Amino acid sequence: MSLLAVRDLAIAAGRHLLVEDIDLDLSEGEVLGLVGESGSGKTITCRALMRLLPEGQLRITRGSVALNGRDLVPLSEAAMRKVRGVEVGMIFQNPNSHLDPVMRIGDQIAESVRYHEGASRADARKRAIDLLRQVGIPDPAGRISAFPHEFSGGMRQRAMIAVALACRPRLLIADEPTTALDVTVQAQVLRLLLDLRDRLGLAIILVTHNLGVVAQTCDSLAVMYAGRVMERGPKRDLLRAPAHPYTEALLKCQPGSAAPAAQLPAIPGQPPLAGVFPEGCRFHPRCPRAAGICRERPALLPAGGKRLAACHFAAPPRAA
Ligand SMILES: Nc1ncnc2c1ncn2[C@@H]1O[C@H](COP(=O)(O)OP(=O)(O)OP(=O)(O)O)[C@@H](O)[C@H]1O
Ligand code: SF4
Ligand SMILES: [Mg+2]
Repeated sequence: MSLLAVRDLAIAAGRHLLVEDIDLDLSEGEVLGLVGESGSGKTITCRALMRLLPEGQLRITRGSVALNGRDLVPLSEAAMRKVRGVEVGMIFQNPNSHLDPVMRIGDQIAESVRYHEGASRADARKRAIDLLRQVGIPDPAGRISAFPHEFSGGMRQRAMIAVALACRPRLLIADEPTTALDVTVQAQVLRLLLDLRDRLGLAIILVTHNLGVVAQTCDSLAVMYAGRVMERGPKRDLLRAPAHPYTEALLKCQPGSAAPAAQLPAIPGQPPLAGVFPEGCRFHPRCPRAAGICRERPALLPAGGKRLAACHFAAPPRAA
């Protein structure tokens, strides 16, 4: 059984569907890269998995998000509060917006442990020191009393990872966790995530614009375009021989294939505005292979090996 199985997830703003048909699977210890142009729906998908969509603006309109076999979509907010932090942790691009600036780092970790696990003050403090050590903060016993502004950008990002891992979640959702950091610190934080995966068996969803990061970090890859998953499967297969023209276009315009600083390249044409997608295949206005059949919507289907692709021409030929 997958640790996480997302099926047919759709998210709407009012009557406009922003994201739909999202199917994702994640096993323990797996790092899944989620890539796609700006506005393709990566962040709102991640927020929907944690049921953290902005209230009154966005909502899940259908689908399921099974974590360890339990669907999170119908859960009450009180039940979700227990899931967040305990079963799933989340880290973001900007630690400043998610660390409390007037609360000591150690207290932010300890509070979560005390709230969720009912740990004593002393045990929670011990856990906070241990977590700061695990994420590579020097002199953790001395630093637990520091405030976030006393840490450098990279250290703050590490501290946010420590807060996210306070109650030992099995799944970490990381939305562009290194984008705001300089290249050396980026590499350190990514190494830390992989190290935590190895030591704790943590599964990670890593949202990134950087194909170099994908090449170095991920086991599997899901490529989003205009609110849908276009292709997903083992990273190696997608990077070596993409089945979907959109994945192919992303890789083709990339300057040096797995260069660490390689950002998602510009593909000719513009992505559609959210919620007003073209009929049929959403990529057809920009697709070099588009044909008449592309006016019909392609389903995400097996496209050879363990990969799935949503393209009429990606499926392996049927046996005669
Ligand atoms: N609160 C909201 N109300 C209405 N539309 C929204 C809201 N939040 C996001 N959207 C729209 O949903 C679409 C997907 O946004 P999202 O932030 O998930 O994109 P993204 O793939 O994470 O992009 P980026 O790579 O720039 O972070 C965008 O078109 C965005 O304008
Ligand atoms: S379905 Fe058609 S338009 Fe869409 S990616 Fe495939 S070939 Fe291109
Ligand atoms: Mg985003």
